[in-house]
Amino acid sequence: MNVYDSARMADVLAPIGFTSCSEAGSADMIILNTCHIREKASEKVYSELGRLRHIKEKRLLDEENTIIAVAGCVAQAEGEEILRRAPYVDIVLGPQTYHRLPEMVARAARAGDKKNTYGRGVLDTDFPTSQKFDHLPNESSFQGVSAFLSVQEGCDKFCTFCVVPYTRGAEFSRPVEQILNEAKRLVENGAKEIILLGQNVNAYHGLDEREKETSLGRLINRLSEVDGIERVRYTTSHPNDMNKDLILAHGQQKKLMPFLHLPVQSGSNKILQSMNRRHSVESYLDIISDLRKSRPDMALSSDFIVGFPGESDEDFEETIDLIKEVKFSQAYSFKYSVRPGTPAGSMAEQVPDELKDERLFVLQDVLKKQQTEFNSSKVGKVLKVLLEKSGRHASQLIGRSQYNQAVHVNAPEYNLGSVQDVNIDSVLSHTLQGSIKKYVKDIEVGQRSEKTQGEHV
Ligand code: 5AD
Ligand code: SF4
Repeated sequence: MNVYDSARMADVLAPIGFTSCSEAGSADMIILNTCHIREKASEKVYSELGRLRHIKEKRLLDEENTIIAVAGCVAQAEGEEILRRAPYVDIVLGPQTYHRLPEMVARAARAGDKKNTYGRGVLDTDFPTSQKFDHLPNESSFQGVSAFLSVQEGCDKFCTFCVVPYTRGAEFSRPVEQILNEAKRLVENGAKEIILLGQNVNAYHGLDEREKETSLGRLINRLSEVDGIERVRYTTSHPNDMNKDLILAHGQQKKLMPFLHLPVQSGSNKILQSMNRRHSVESYLDIISDLRKSRPDMALSSDFIVGFPGESDEDFEETIDLIKEVKFSQAYSFKYSVRPGTPAGSMAEQVPDELKDERLFVLQDVLKKQQTEFNSSKVGKVLKVLLEKSGRHASQLIGRSQYNQAVHVNAPEYNLGSVQDVNIDSVLSHTLQGSIKKYVKDIEVGQRSEKTQGEHV
């Protein structure tokens, strides 16, 4: 979601004359868009700010000002503290106020006019009653084949380990029409795949044109009718919002990809309860079974936390058992990280870091094997691959299979943006290597010689 937000911040700043550049050292404004989800991510902010301070001071010698802004969830959580610890920061803004960036830039520019002193930083970490989406410009600078689109934000679930309900605010859904219009503009800029985003994306319940609540399953069907959209994905979901509509959509809607990221966090009911997840191992497995009934080739991904307070060896073993039962095609796993202000942070029975390391190692080993097994099972098969961008090597294109695997092929650039049937030849680490089937077919019917395989006819 930070990738999406960063792109939208660029859109907001374009009308007042800013364009993106690749070199922080030559920028008039630098925005750090930050993540607060785990301590490691948060910690990076201050070290990164130290680096930016040098850039700012160097440019000041040439009488050039650099506006430094800290955006995102660390900004939301720490607010004034950032201005205190890093007085050279000009703007601190939360994830729900970036539509007001032009106003903040104007205020910061006025405050920072005296080139050699730091201005008093501008702080805007409100949760405004009117949504930022109602104020963002229509124009989007995004150009690409696979595009993110935020449809839902915030969270009311309050898992005991998580900062999101505090930093992103209460759950809300964007109206259907606004989403459809944004999707159409993304298509005009080259998008073929739309990835719907939300912290609880499947809790989506936005209003349609007739003010009727619309489920995510229904929204996906509406988006699939938009000319030019060939694929739809969504992330991240909560098991309790995996309703029948959505499960059925996986079986019926051809544009909805057979891949789902459905975080379970733990395979122990005791830990799930202590996490306030409000689902059980059994209910999670039931959802997986329903999904596979609806779409038998469904590939699954998840998030796992090891070392949550009170997690015993038995609890951890239950997580391993769940992984072995479900068989994930990929997954993310983390050591539990204490977050300020969250209930789990002050729970007794915190797990020592060495034990977290050990468990993470074991868990990731099981997950890695499952991923390799899943990828290897596709060798010799034909996958549908959306070719998204050029690779590092000449005539190499990179795409994603319907199961969200990265696939490399050798093919001319004009194939970018198309979905191709790809013969999978081998697996290298987490990447599949393949060749576009139409070329192989051409050879079979004698239109092409062996040595031109993989090139344009
Ligand atoms: N410690 C470790 N992992 C966390 N996550 C969220 N909060 C924490 C935390 N305090 C993980 C969860 C979530 C993912 C986005 O980040 O697994 O699904
Ligand atoms: Fe955090 Fe997701 Fe739980 Fe919400 S549902 S509190 S975003 S882990």
